[in-house]
Amino acid sequence: GIDVGKLLKETGHVTYDPGFVNTAACASAITYIDGDAGILRYRGYPIDQLAGKASFLETSYLLIYGELPTAEQLAEFSGRIRLHTLLHEEMKQFFDGFPRDAHPMAVLSSAVSALSTFYQDSLDPFDPEHVEMSTVRLMAKVPTIASYAYKKSIGQPLLYPNNALGYVENFLRMTFGVPATEYEVDPVVAQVLDMLFVLHADHEQNCSTSTVRLVGSSNANLFASVSAGVNALFGPLHGGANQAVLEMLQAIQAEGGDVKSFVRRVKDKEPGVKLMGFGHRVYKNYDPRAAIVKQAAQDVLNRMAKPDPLLDIAMQLEEIALADDYFVSRKLYPNVDFYTGLIYKAMGFPTKMFTVLFALGRLPGWIAQWREMITDPTTKIGRPRQLYVGPTERAYVPMDQR
Ligand code: ACO
Repeated sequence: GIDVGKLLKETGHVTYDPGFVNTAACASAITYIDGDAGILRYRGYPIDQLAGKASFLETSYLLIYGELPTAEQLAEFSGRIRLHTLLHEEMKQFFDGFPRDAHPMAVLSSAVSALSTFYQDSLDPFDPEHVEMSTVRLMAKVPTIASYAYKKSIGQPLLYPNNALGYVENFLRMTFGVPATEYEVDPVVAQVLDMLFVLHADHEQNCSTSTVRLVGSSNANLFASVSAGVNALFGPLHGGANQAVLEMLQAIQAEGGDVKSFVRRVKDKEPGVKLMGFGHRVYKNYDPRAAIVKQAAQDVLNRMAKPDPLLDIAMQLEEIALADDYFVSRKLYPNVDFYTGLIYKAMGFPTKMFTVLFALGRLPGWIAQWREMITDPTTKIGRPRQLYVGPTERAYVPMDQR
């Protein structure tokens, strides 16, 4: 019942755009999306050319510095990251302080925020040397934090990083390895996880990236800005969707696997029932990342001795939805997270860790966008306007007269 036209007249010249559906808040040279055509490019390179060819660190370099690295540049970049994978010993107390069943995304955002208490080596967060150090520290320490969050949740001792290993291998060992025991990283698992990180590495002005930019626009440091991004990613409409998809598939399975009746409930708009992992603000066509993930899910799950019946439920859901007018007319297609959870589950990650894996992948994108923002002379503090709909002026009523 709100008369937006009247309110706009009263407020003056502002754009009313809830959810920023049509508002570009910055100019960016990092990621290009054509949502109608289903195109995604990092710095001009199509995602399907990067996925499976460029490593995650190579892709991170591309996003952060703008060009694909030479072998020497990549070795130097990964070498610097390797030097910083350890967490400050005192940071371990954080992990002891959280409840055992804490969600690892909440632990991750708290620990990333805490990094700015340990690394205050410049009062100017925009000092280029500080920016470089913060970049390397974040890339290096976030996987360690993520593994520690997981280890605490299962009551196992923490494992120090082994810097002889690659980026993803090191993360897998810290997560699944046990002290004083050899841990062999499965090369296929490492390769697929690395590729999933590439697919998640940036996605222009999504909710978490816009959050990183908004917080950073007040000149807050990189750790504070990225920690806010982690919190934005936590929600089930954004990064939390990968956890929500798996929970949805499990719920359908527990109720006897009746996919059609679940789709009916979605179409009837039963409160709280959505086809999670479907739909996207920008893609009105098949998400190019989802096509790659679907293939990877089939490859990984086919390697398993016992097939996961959840893959079958997911494929049935997709088939029914893509042939149903409700989804077709609204241009709802699977997004990147429809199939990722099945792969993470097959790799042995508990559901609560899925969004943390998304955060590990998105990290270079957040860093690249923050760095682009602070060097852009047109950047201003983010400060949206509003349409006021509250009471007009009224006089204070003393307590005894209310
Ligand atoms: N299931 C059922 N209906 C849906 C879905 C869905 N997943 N997504 C959108 N719709 C419907 C809406 O109900 C709406 O219908 P209406 O026109 O009859 O009211 C129409 O499609 C348009 O949807 P909006 O909510 O207006 O689209 P918006 O761009 O605001 O939302 C979003 C995009 C949040 C991704 C939405 O599609 C959604 O909630 N999807 C499920 C959660 C999810 O998978 N999120 C991950 C997104 S990708 C990412 O962050 C990695």
